[in-house]
Amino acid sequence: MSEQPVLLRVRGLDVVYKGRRRRDDFPALRDVSFAVRRAETYGLVGESGSGKSTIGRAILGLVPVARGTIAFEQKDITGLRGRGRRRLAADIQVVFQDPYTSLNPSMEVEDILAEPLTIAGWTRSDARRRIAALLDDVRLPADSGRRLPREFSGGQRQRIAIARAMALQPKLIVCDEPVSALDLTTQELVLQLFVDIQEATGVSYLFITHDLAVVRHISHQVGVLYRGDLVEHGRADAVTSAPQHPYTQRLFMSAPVPDPARQAERRAQRRALADAPPRAV
Ligand SMILES: Nc1ncnc2c1ncn2[C@@H]1O[C@H](COP(=O)(O)OP(=O)(O)O)[C@@H](O)[C@H]1O
Ligand SMILES: [Mg+2]
Repeated sequence: MSEQPVLLRVRGLDVVYKGRRRRDDFPALRDVSFAVRRAETYGLVGESGSGKSTIGRAILGLVPVARGTIAFEQKDITGLRGRGRRRLAADIQVVFQDPYTSLNPSMEVEDILAEPLTIAGWTRSDARRRIAALLDDVRLPADSGRRLPREFSGGQRQRIAIARAMALQPKLIVCDEPVSALDLTTQELVLQLFVDIQEATGVSYLFITHDLAVVRHISHQVGVLYRGDLVEHGRADAVTSAPQHPYTQRLFMSAPVPDPARQAERRAQRRALADAPPRAV
């Protein structure tokens, strides 16, 4: 199978959160490099605080980049502001974790979905047709448009957020823990929706999660972030089945596996690894 072309390339990315004083500056990312290919999912995994969301924010232009470059379709978008950044919003969209706070509670679903279309200059009738198609794409009832977000379940709200992200047919969606707030059954359904949408449209995902089962399920490539360093990356099957870095090995061994014998074996391996320093490679 031939490789898909690169859509987004991050090279040598440093992000520093500024403190009040210089010595309070916090280096959240150090020398992070990876690429997201067209029609593929790059799964970014790591424990809480490792810098996953910071990578998403840097791509969306929400935090300043201290060093390195971000290129989208071969064009440098690092630090892009104003009109250029707004234009890019049609191509790069985002879905956040919390479907309760990311949707305006006082707007009907139809208006939530119409917003990006109206800003992009769509006519009312074109927008209405597009909204009907979007509701169908995310498998929400056709009459959802006249209802408020609170009338929907968590999984349905996340479908609304996905529909809004898809409205202008973006090429990349930054998905920051988009199923982490959902129960397991709903997670599976929403993950399958992400997969189906990708197959139908060729959209790429930067899929951020702390959940290894999720990353395994959805990713073509996987990157493992540990305290601001991308310590390992590669094809999803390779990284998830034969991790090389001690941190990744520990991380993947702590993922729940249903078989009790296998779990006991993993616990023993984890104890053995706990004695090794995490960054010894
Ligand atoms: N605005 C900020 N100012 C200072 N530090 C921050 C800010 N946002 C995040 N951080 C710190 O940067 C690190 C990475 O955060 P984040 O990217 O949100 O991690 P993750 O998404 O992997 O949980 C954390 O230690 C966090 O405390
Ligand atoms: Mg985060």
